[in-house]
Amino acid sequence: MKSKKEQLDELNARMAKCSACALRPVCKNVVPGEGNAEAEIMFIGEAPGQKEDETGHPFVGAAGKFLNEMLAMINLKREDVYIANVVKCRPPQNRDPLPDEIAACWPWLLAQIKIIQPKLIVTLGRHSMERFLPGMKISQVHGKAMRREIPGIGKQIFYTLYHPAAALYNGGMRETLIKDFRRIPKVLKKIKKEAE
Ligand code: URA
Repeated sequence: MKSKKEQLDELNARMAKCSACALRPVCKNVVPGEGNAEAEIMFIGEAPGQKEDETGHPFVGAAGKFLNEMLAMINLKREDVYIANVVKCRPPQNRDPLPDEIAACWPWLLAQIKIIQPKLIVTLGRHSMERFLPGMKISQVHGKAMRREIPGIGKQIFYTLYHPAAALYNGGMRETLIKDFRRIPKVLKKIKKEAE
């Protein structure tokens, strides 16, 4: 039986050759995701930005720095969690990913989730939330844990946060995001307790 890390490595190698949508020819690098294959928590953002496209790593720009700071607040490092995006290739000029791009990339994200089997998926921003919890309003559901049955995954618990890039320069949203983020350990503890 292959380890989760080996399975992810194989998946990422296949992802690098993806041609399922029009983004791959216009981006520099596929940004599959990275972190601990055995992670209990998986963070899912929207799509790579310029820095991510240049380096092939998720959340390495200003939003990524902020994400690292918030992880440190709850005594976690990037290496403790898994960080990925709904779309693995940078949309030109950082435009929102199109519905067909999100759909084309979905099998990759689904495969990642199936390998990692995180106890908690933390969605970062509206687009990530929308993929799993359609029709919800982020202003109403941020900071709330929700259990959903997702085809191909089964029962999964989600915790919805504002996107670090959106909150970075917005004082009120920044405070809310930090407050919600600090609750992650409690949410995880409760999930574990209920699974006992
Ligand atoms: N924003 C995202 O949603 N993902 C990244 O990887 C970087 C910025």
